[in-house]
Amino acid sequence: MSTPSVEPTPSGAAAPARVVVLVSGSGTNLQALLDASADPAYGARIVAVGADRDEIEGLARADRHNVPTFVARLKDFSSRDAWDHALADRVAAFEPDLVVLAGFMKLVGPEFLERFEGKVVNTHPALCPSFPGVNGPGDALAYGVKVTGATLFVVDAGVDTGPIVAQTVVPVEDDDDASALHERIKVAERRMLVDNVGRMAREGFRITDRKVRFGL
Ligand code: GAR
Repeated sequence: MSTPSVEPTPSGAAAPARVVVLVSGSGTNLQALLDASADPAYGARIVAVGADRDEIEGLARADRHNVPTFVARLKDFSSRDAWDHALADRVAAFEPDLVVLAGFMKLVGPEFLERFEGKVVNTHPALCPSFPGVNGPGDALAYGVKVTGATLFVVDAGVDTGPIVAQTVVPVEDDDDASALHERIKVAERRMLVDNVGRMAREGFRITDRKVRFGL
């Protein structure tokens, strides 16, 4: 199956790709994208930052860059579907070319995925398909793997199962705990995220039989 995906920013065009980033916490991956997108040659601009909770550092980072923010809290809605619908509406208002989940600790629902089909990417702190879910570094450590890392993938209906855009490998050290390992993963993860979101914006990408390729 071939899924047409994000169109590249035409070379020399005035308008960079419009990116909405969703966060749930400290937002260091968001910060890396904000810093990269300060250079017009990067090809992508963060037009909004959304969150599923208030008063997080990720939202403060957006504020400091004068990027509009919004919050959609699951507990404010009568059902998960209603939350998903509202979140999709908030994101759609910013007309994104790409939606980046950067430490967004909720699963987006069917309506969200349908409305932004093939345009939603997520970064996960493990080498997919290993160690999906909310505790990637801790699960990798408990299993005893010698290398782990981070994965950027196009979101589908599963948990960390979508077509893989990029992966980066990080060795596990003998004295690692989950927190130290996660922090080292995040250093590599931020580089991977910035490099690949930029390429997606500048070159576009296509998905054929789960294989993600840059260019059209
Ligand atoms: C990142 O490591 C990201 O991969 C992870 O949360 C961290 C957010 O860090 N996401 C998940 O575990 C999702 N399953 P940040 O808030 O400093 O960017």
